[in-house]
Amino acid sequence: MRELLRVEKLRKSFHDLAAVDAIDLQLAVGVLVALIGPNGAGKTTLINLLSGALAPDAGRVIFRGEDITRLPSHLRVRRGVTRSYQVMNIFPRLTVHENVLLPVLARQRRLLRFFSPTSAYTAAVEDADHLLAEVGLFEQRGQAAGQLSHGDQRRLELGIAVAVQPVLCLLDEPSAGMNPVERTIVLELVKKLAHDRQTTFVIVEHDMDVVFSLAERIVVMNRGRILADGTPSEIRENRQVRETYLGEEWVG
Ligand SMILES: Nc1ncnc2c1ncn2[C@@H]1O[C@H](COP(=O)(O)OP(=O)(O)O)[C@@H](O)[C@H]1O
Ligand SMILES: [Mg+2]
Repeated sequence: MRELLRVEKLRKSFHDLAAVDAIDLQLAVGVLVALIGPNGAGKTTLINLLSGALAPDAGRVIFRGEDITRLPSHLRVRRGVTRSYQVMNIFPRLTVHENVLLPVLARQRRLLRFFSPTSAYTAAVEDADHLLAEVGLFEQRGQAAGQLSHGDQRRLELGIAVAVQPVLCLLDEPSAGMNPVERTIVLELVKKLAHDRQTTFVIVEHDMDVVFSLAERIVVMNRGRILADGTPSEIRENRQVRETYLGEEWVG
């Protein structure tokens, strides 16, 4: 395993409650990891600690060998750690193409001085088009983003999230509000992007059919701790997971 991220004894409490309770975790390059567990398990808190939205009470986050535990989010983004939120994050009045072009241009800004403005812009437009083709929105590129169907808007969000070419992309319930077919499409897309772009995705998802069929690794959280961590078949066979959750619905 080529290690991308390592978390050591990470803790975050709210008042008396340990939302993330001494978690150890390692993530490899270019894998799709599903983070699952019941409501209140600490999934969102963990994502917030990884993205830098929250500072931990204790423990360390090591990204590509660098201690980023205290690094603010915008500096993590520069190192390639991005996230999406449960709420929609698109510009509805801009076209689909413009929505993706903006983050592509933001990423290119550092490189701009090496190119003439025109050739840099042309390259960005091509990049954005290529990305739209990857997420299946090329045909809709001229439409206002707000006029897309709900499922297409979530695909666009995914396109926006990967347009900055993240190394680690944290997705908190990207398929919220989607039907099962749309969910499968989005997760298949995430998996393809993980492999094509060598991006590691950590994705919070509640549809267990989708998780078990598409995730390469499943991390199960419960009460701030990691209850189990393994391949879908290992998790399916895990007695503790079965005893804790068999017959229960995985919600939250
Ligand atoms: N900002 C906060 N203030 C107080 N308690 C919080 C806050 N964020 C989360 N919690 C609590 O921490 C626990 C874990 O929450 P969360 O990480 O959102 O779980 P999940 O995403 O798995 O549903 C819950 O009991 C929740 O109520
Ligand atoms: Mg949550």
